[in-house]
Amino acid sequence: MQERQQESRGEPTQFGDMAREKFRKQLHELADWIADFREHIEQLLVAPDAKPGAIRAQLPRHGPEKGEPFEKILSDVDHIIVPGMVHWSHPMFLGYFGWTSTAPGILGEILSVPLSVNAMTWRTCPAATELETVVIDWLRQWVGLSDEFEGVVYDTASVGIMHALAVAREEAAPKTRKLGLTDRDLPRFRIYTSDQAHSAAEKAAIALGLGEENVIRIPSDDQFRMDVNSLGRRIAQDRYNGLQPMAVVATVGTTSTASVDPVSEIAKICREEKMWLHIDAAYGGGFAIVPEYKWVCNGWELADSVVINPHKTVFVPLDFSVLYVRGLERLRRVFTLVPEVLRGDTIEGEKNYMDYGIQLGRRFRALKAWVIWRSLGRAGVVARLREQIRLANLLSDWVKRDNGFELSAPASMGVVCFRFIDSDVNKLDKLNSDIVERINAKGRAYLTQTKLRDRTVIRIGFGNVLTTEEHLRKGWKLIRETADAVRAKSQIPKDQSASDLRLGA
Ligand SMILES: Cc1ncc(COP(=O)(O)O)c(C=O)c1O
Repeated sequence: MQERQQESRGEPTQFGDMAREKFRKQLHELADWIADFREHIEQLLVAPDAKPGAIRAQLPRHGPEKGEPFEKILSDVDHIIVPGMVHWSHPMFLGYFGWTSTAPGILGEILSVPLSVNAMTWRTCPAATELETVVIDWLRQWVGLSDEFEGVVYDTASVGIMHALAVAREEAAPKTRKLGLTDRDLPRFRIYTSDQAHSAAEKAAIALGLGEENVIRIPSDDQFRMDVNSLGRRIAQDRYNGLQPMAVVATVGTTSTASVDPVSEIAKICREEKMWLHIDAAYGGGFAIVPEYKWVCNGWELADSVVINPHKTVFVPLDFSVLYVRGLERLRRVFTLVPEVLRGDTIEGEKNYMDYGIQLGRRFRALKAWVIWRSLGRAGVVARLREQIRLANLLSDWVKRDNGFELSAPASMGVVCFRFIDSDVNKLDKLNSDIVERINAKGRAYLTQTKLRDRTVIRIGFGNVLTTEEHLRKGWKLIRETADAVRAKSQIPKDQSASDLRLGA
């Protein structure tokens, strides 16, 4: 009783929530904290110089016995957490696939927290379910995918690929959902993907009991695209040996170079061979919104499933990945299973998204997509993606004009791979790796390294809306200066340089 009276006066209670006025005050403080963080982010180091375990060492080993004030918790965020972070939203963060942190995205994410629903069935939150259907369809229209495709939102593309291949497996080996794979007279199934594709295909094969070794890596051509002739030959060889080709995972925007597989030709093979075609457009799919990049979705009309990560290229904060399936009912048939406690929730003819995957509980992810896409509009998305493409092409031109460097792959979308070559050819891998390590350790910029044809290259990925041409100029200067310093440290006289040994020459 006393508890209720205190609560109605907005005073703190022993069992309930924080006092209302205090909550309001802290929300305002937090709003200021977020705005300050965003405003001053450039003054932070992009990456910490902490050694492994340094952050853990500042935190107690046991959880607190008594509650602590929010001010103290926020102060630890300032002093322990923020300095121990790689700041993906920093304008000099040029690694991986540049992040999609934007002010409207942050607002959308914040908004979904107090609403705190579980979007497992339509009835558990009609608005969350119906908004998910709406934003999935907006994106489908923006990228130009036919309306035979419907989708579902998962956290990541890896999860999407696993679900797509689960349907492919069910169609290749009916009743696997019921009977499993063992003690049945089933062939060995094969999945094909390029040597540049993401390891998500292997992870899916592991999870689905298909076996990591049954994911066959098809060689790529000189522009890092799957070689279709090799694919055809490998499928024929596998059939000859009694194996069953099941699926191809084609990539639109590979992880290292953002290359695009020849999907139309691959799709033709899949049709002839009656194989599932999954398109991993986790990165590249978003670029199909840009009119001059429409070509990236050539052949998609023949696919069975497509995954796109708006948290990579369509400005939705992590995590938000959409799996589209031609005839979404195929996916539902594999995963629908209604627990008794939810049976009454599933009587309406509406979608229950729990039926489309292994996850039961689901966040209200659609809200943040709706907020950011309404805030930017399609034109705003296109303008920002075009700017990333422009910066990538600009960097690519600078690399081409500098004798100390070479492009390692054609610039594609927001990705540029290049290599420092002005030194002893035998030391180039180490030198390029050292350049990236040294820049990242100093925290003034953050880059990625990758291997292309067994050579270490520097990789830059654009995506952050705060990154301007000025930041890029600073980054390029830093790379050149660091390259000179690293070469000097390796004590190789300049006359032994091997700048004429160009990649692919
Ligand atoms: C081409 C491609 N596919 C799939 C993935 C996996 O994405 P996620 O982290 O959403 O699982 C990545 C990650 O970078 C990727 O580059």
